[in-house]
Amino acid sequence: MPTVAAENVNSNEVRRACSRLFLLESVETDRFLENLDLEMVKKAYRERAKTCHPDVRHSMTTGSNVENFLKIQKSYEVLTSYLERRAQESLETVVRGRKIIAVGGAKGGIGKSIFAANLSVILASKGFKTVAVDLDLGGANLHLYLGKRAILKQSINDFLRKRVDTLQELAVDSGHGPLLIGGDSSELGAANIEFSRKLRLLRAVKNIEADYIVLDLGGDTSYNIVDFFNLADYAVVLTTLDTVSYISSYHFMKAAMYRKLNRLFGPESKFRDEREADLERLVREVTMAPDGPKVKSIEDLIEWVREKQPMNLSILVRALRDFNPCLVVNKVEKEIDIGPVVTKVQEVSKKWLSREVRYLGSISAQREITESVKALIPTVSQYPRGRLVAELEMIYQNLVRRV
Ligand SMILES: Nc1ncnc2c1ncn2[C@@H]1O[C@H](COP(=O)(O)OP(=O)(O)OP(=O)(O)O)[C@@H](O)[C@H]1O
Ligand SMILES: [Mg+2]
Repeated sequence: MPTVAAENVNSNEVRRACSRLFLLESVETDRFLENLDLEMVKKAYRERAKTCHPDVRHSMTTGSNVENFLKIQKSYEVLTSYLERRAQESLETVVRGRKIIAVGGAKGGIGKSIFAANLSVILASKGFKTVAVDLDLGGANLHLYLGKRAILKQSINDFLRKRVDTLQELAVDSGHGPLLIGGDSSELGAANIEFSRKLRLLRAVKNIEADYIVLDLGGDTSYNIVDFFNLADYAVVLTTLDTVSYISSYHFMKAAMYRKLNRLFGPESKFRDEREADLERLVREVTMAPDGPKVKSIEDLIEWVREKQPMNLSILVRALRDFNPCLVVNKVEKEIDIGPVVTKVQEVSKKWLSREVRYLGSISAQREITESVKALIPTVSQYPRGRLVAELEMIYQNLVRRV
């Protein structure tokens, strides 16, 4: 664990630390720093430390070797602190002017990718620079819904494997308005990215230059997926009217909120040095332990913090306030069935998560979608006067409406 406080690390120190651990020529570029991750630092530290560790018994246990070793150790601490701070900052700073829309929902086949693809086309048709990103790393197919039949030459895997430095380089013209950053799940284990790579990916998503960045997410509640969901300015949860789907949509929101709280107060927190062990334990217990203790809902958690740890209350309340998932109902056959389902999701979220879930609108089950999927053309491009255009327009207006 780093002993150098993250906020005390300045850029000169970072550069000095880099030049102690890495080859001088390689550290001179900004790109080197951008790509730096914890694995690289650990590896370099191990290699450097081997050459001058005081425990190594050969002719090198001289004073200067001990000094060198201490410098290498300090460099390691500086860099790990720097990476920790950078990760937190990038997670918490929303780049102004560009809006991220994430499309989630913990069930397969409910229409997340159809929605993401067609919404992107609608946004682009309004003149917004729009980039659709396939973050369903294990089941990438957004390119198909955006009219790209052939396998893309480059995918997010190229970024994850560091074959390119930015996501922007992977963006291709979909031919229907939005740019597309596609995925490729044919590589085994594509969905299993480790923490440092995910942070790099999250940071890169925020650095995409666009008015709107639309994220198509996979259909489960794994940390990777909910972390992308929590990155969004507009977090949209999709459901259909079937019971499993809307129950899953609630569980998806719950997983995202709990994950957010655990990141805020847990071991990854930027408040790590001062974090309260009791609060961390409580958040973990209330959110993770099946037989959790006294508190059962977020409201109970707020009360507990208000009483026992008032200094953490504002952080908690702010985190909750920033969590605003919205709901879209897809594949609707009969409009009359929508109300009761939306009410159920809203009531249960209010009761257990203390959140009002905003309902944005619905999409009917329609032949045009089935047809356009067969033809591999976005529905709103194939049927520009069709029903989906009007439905998505309504959803868009509700999404961006100030509340
Ligand atoms: N409103 C609709 N009307 C008719 N068919 C629809 C509608 N929405 C989605 N579909 C159909 O449902 C299928 C699944 O949609 P989609 O791939 O978007 O789901 P998904 O939620 O992204 O699934 P996964 O989690 O597996 O990625 C599509 O083949 C599409 O044809
Ligand atoms: Mg999908």
